[in-house]
Amino acid sequence: MTDRYCVFGHPVGHSKSPAIHAAFAEQTFDAIEYTAIEAPVDDFAGAWRDFVAQGGRGANVTVPFKEDAFRLCDTLSPRARRAGAVNTLILGGNGLTYGDTTDGVGLVNDLKRHGVALAGARVLVLGAGGAVRGVLAPLLQASPASLHIANRTADKAIALARDVADLGPVSGSGFEAIEGPFDLVINATSASLAGDLPPLPDDLFAPGATAYDMMYAAEPTVFLHWAAERGARGVDGLGMLVEQAAESFFQWRGKRPDTGPVLEALRRSL
Ligand code: ATR
Repeated sequence: MTDRYCVFGHPVGHSKSPAIHAAFAEQTFDAIEYTAIEAPVDDFAGAWRDFVAQGGRGANVTVPFKEDAFRLCDTLSPRARRAGAVNTLILGGNGLTYGDTTDGVGLVNDLKRHGVALAGARVLVLGAGGAVRGVLAPLLQASPASLHIANRTADKAIALARDVADLGPVSGSGFEAIEGPFDLVINATSASLAGDLPPLPDDLFAPGATAYDMMYAAEPTVFLHWAAERGARGVDGLGMLVEQAAESFFQWRGKRPDTGPVLEALRRSL
């Protein structure tokens, strides 16, 4: 029987994951089926159980189910435990469910692909929601000189920084207390979704700095547009999407797809 995988979300119709995994499977000659499933918001565990009963071997999990997925797992990777969220479910041979989160490694690998050095860099992360919690550990493990988290609600940034303080030099504050310049600024607020910008100082970027928006769109986001006007190089989150998918694929299939051509095709389709 063909191994079945899916992405669970609500809504999930817009998801690019089926196209990405189909492209990976074509590269590696893996005969898999990968679909998008809209799970009911009040019974994620039931949706996973049903999927497994129908031959499901693994799944990606997106909004709003990453915490539900975290709670149903029998075993968790250390990075998923720290993130408090799971974006990759893996059915073990013993019937137990293993949970991992590949968002952080996806971000770090995408930065690497763009030649952005994290080691020794002064890094600023904007936002303190679930998206940030998921990527802090891999970012800190890449040895930045410093990592500052700034958020509209300062207390959330301070609490997040405290949670990962054992991993490296990290701090948190509100936007008003940002002290640049930075070599890398990562926007993980949902402000750009609404076409908004957090209030940011003009001297945010060091020479040669990179602005990274976890969001992506056919056109540069408001944040990347603002950053370009201040001399920073802009990178959007489409590569992170493909890289996190590649890491999930590796967890399931033991093979690493070539992300470059898949990303190029996806970019053309935006
Ligand atoms: P996600 O899973 O995408 O991280 P989230 O957990 O809802 O979503 O977090 C949204 C983030 O965007 C938060 O950091 C939020 O700031 P608050 O913690 O102060 O709510 C931030 N955010 C949302 N809208 C914003 C806006 N208009 N300006 C600045 N920050 C915004």
